[in-house]
Amino acid sequence: MAYSEAQVLAGGLAHIPILIGLVGFFERFRNAISKNPGKGRVEKKKSVQTPNKPPEKPSSTPKAVKKPAHPNVPVNTYKPKSPFEGTVTENYSLLKDGAIGRVNHITFDLSGGEPQLKYVEGQSIGIIPAGEDAKGKPHKIRLYSIASTKYGDDFKGNTVSLCVRQLQYEKEGETIDGVCSTYLCNINPGDKVKITGPVGKEMLLPEDENANIIMLATGTGIAPMRAYLRKMFEPTEREKNNWNFKGKAWLFMGAPKTANLLYDEDFEHYKSKFPENLRYTKAISREEKNSSGGRMYIQDRVLENADELFSMIEDEKTHIYLCGLKGMEPGIDEAMSKAASSKGLNWSELRPQLKKAGRWHVETY
Ligand code: FAD
Ligand code: A2P
Repeated sequence: MAYSEAQVLAGGLAHIPILIGLVGFFERFRNAISKNPGKGRVEKKKSVQTPNKPPEKPSSTPKAVKKPAHPNVPVNTYKPKSPFEGTVTENYSLLKDGAIGRVNHITFDLSGGEPQLKYVEGQSIGIIPAGEDAKGKPHKIRLYSIASTKYGDDFKGNTVSLCVRQLQYEKEGETIDGVCSTYLCNINPGDKVKITGPVGKEMLLPEDENANIIMLATGTGIAPMRAYLRKMFEPTEREKNNWNFKGKAWLFMGAPKTANLLYDEDFEHYKSKFPENLRYTKAISREEKNSSGGRMYIQDRVLENADELFSMIEDEKTHIYLCGLKGMEPGIDEAMSKAASSKGLNWSELRPQLKKAGRWHVETY
């Protein structure tokens, strides 16, 4: 309703019931959308005047300051100019015989920092590789998703673990090794490493123990998911964190070969212990074919499971996490669009609503 119309209406007492009715209508409409994000568009909040209140001044009057989201989550305790020096405690391959490439699980001791570098599940840390770049300057930081829970793999609360794929590509007949990923895959227990962070609030888990968590990961995109799944299903972790996860978790994992599946035994074990709470669906791109005869990707698995996935997404307790190759985003979007329309939903409307509701979490690189 236009502002001038509201003033005219407010002048006539006879119109009060109409206005009250309109306010109620907007309120019900807004509630319906926040409960049912798939069923309509989110509109910008309109200022509806009630007859007893003076009209709102245009926005020069300061509104209540929006509290920062997740104020207790640590951010940038250590900055690139003064990084923390962590000590490598473990560095081992996550791959089986016959796998493609090199992916390692690497753990750093964080104790001794003043203050200690603390983090929560879903954050990332920065690594500054040793040495200098071609211009003789220190290397820039690279970010890595944290693969451990805040209690660390040994539950003592003073380590952080990463899952790192060595970048290697061919250029003019030469094999080029990525600077930081090669540095990390080659370091040894006892080595000191410059660490910054933690950073990121995009991939945090909800606090609700009844939340449902859909995870879509390719390759090392499994790192944050490994932390979530440990937090949900690892017995000592559950004792420590006091977070009695009761919702449904569904992991879609994409890897080129079976031998490239990361943390697979752990996830299979959690599934056997918590069959009601965990589903684990793999897409092995170079061993399985999709329905069109192409490589099997996680988006093909999304389509195969469209009905169940969208029944979950219609529940407002459901969060979706996407992590890994940037290139998978269009494919996932396309699959979600098809899957949504098979349920009579419009993904291009639904996705921004999920994002706005803090239920759609993406970290790709
Ligand atoms: P660099 O030496 O920096 O080389 C990378 C550069 O090489 C590219 O910028 C590009 O210019 C070039 N290049 C790359 N591929 C090709 C190609 N095929 N042909 C020609 N040129 C090419 N990585 C992980 O392994 N695990 C993680 O958990 C992880 N988490 C991340 C989280 C976030 C939020 C972000 C932003 C990134 C994450 N990464 C992760 C990626 C990581 O930060 C590094 O980008 C990656 O390890 C490569 O760094 P590098 O120093 O080895 O490569
Ligand atoms: P492929 O490389 O066979 O094309 P990793 O990081 O260990 O290589 O795993 C990444 C996985 O993601 C691989 O199975 C890879 O398949 C797959 N992948 C590659 N491109 C896409 C894409 N656009 N969408 C989804 N998955 C992809």
